[in-house]
Amino acid sequence: MKRVCIIGASGKLGKYMVRHALDKGYEVVGVCREKSIKKLDEFKGRISIVSGATNDHETIKKAITGCVGVLTVLVPWGVHQYSSGTVQAVFDNAQEEARLIFSCGWHITQDGKDIYSKSFKRMLGFVSWIGKLFRLIEIKDQEKACELIFASDTKWTVVRGSDLEEGESQGLPVWSDHVGDSILKSNMTRRVDFALFMVEALENDKLNKKSPAIVGCQTHSALAHHSNRKEKNETMD
Ligand SMILES: NC(=O)c1ccc[n+]([C@@H]2O[C@H](COP(=O)([O-])OP(=O)(O)OC[C@H]3O[C@@H](n4cnc5c(N)ncnc54)[C@H](OP(=O)(O)O)[C@@H]3O)[C@@H](O)[C@H]2O)c1
Repeated sequence: MKRVCIIGASGKLGKYMVRHALDKGYEVVGVCREKSIKKLDEFKGRISIVSGATNDHETIKKAITGCVGVLTVLVPWGVHQYSSGTVQAVFDNAQEEARLIFSCGWHITQDGKDIYSKSFKRMLGFVSWIGKLFRLIEIKDQEKACELIFASDTKWTVVRGSDLEEGESQGLPVWSDHVGDSILKSNMTRRVDFALFMVEALENDKLNKKSPAIVGCQTHSALAHHSNRKEKNETMD
């Protein structure tokens, strides 16, 4: 059985990823803080757990040794380079050919060609300011973490999530290289499907060294994009 590690397994996205990974027949190792182990009770006996901070090298080494894939929930908690420390710990300890999948939001840009609305920029500025003021989150460190990833020679994918909502799965999200593309306009993905995209990326080499921005496959913008394409193809036939 192929072994994968889920770093941040006890969070909302993490637990969905655990479910998808088990459904796909992977052996799962989850990493979470000691105090959060109980959040994984529903998976007792079906996964192994390594507890500790996700930027702690010994914790990550123990968890990802022997894993063909590592799914990392990248979160910018605190003011001590938690995100970039987590990425570095993964890079320093992952086996050479492992698929490394990271989660983040649309605000991360790989090539600077994303186009953000004014309201998105305002919201990001506000969240960054509040997060810094109360020393809760450090968006700049999540950006630094992603710069480390983009510069890496490993088999990485950075999955950039839109706004998220709870609800039943609608299927695998659709994606585009750049925020601002019409297919993404609806800016909404079910969290369960974000997790599905992360797990599916483990076996999708076309996503290697890419940072797909995703949106729900049943959203208005995704459906409109597909019907426009279909119409175009029919006109050309
Ligand atoms: N929320 C959104 O609207 C949104 C939108 C787009 C993209 N994303 C991306 O989606 C991913 C998951 O985000 P989410 O909002 O759904 O959160 P989430 O899955 O609940 O994950 C939060 C993670 O942070 C950990 N955590 C919480 N407080 C912490 C602390 N003080 N120190 C260290 N770790 C702490 C949690 O662990 P415990 O279980 O131990 O608490 C959990 O693993 C992230 O990569 C995020 O950038 C989110």
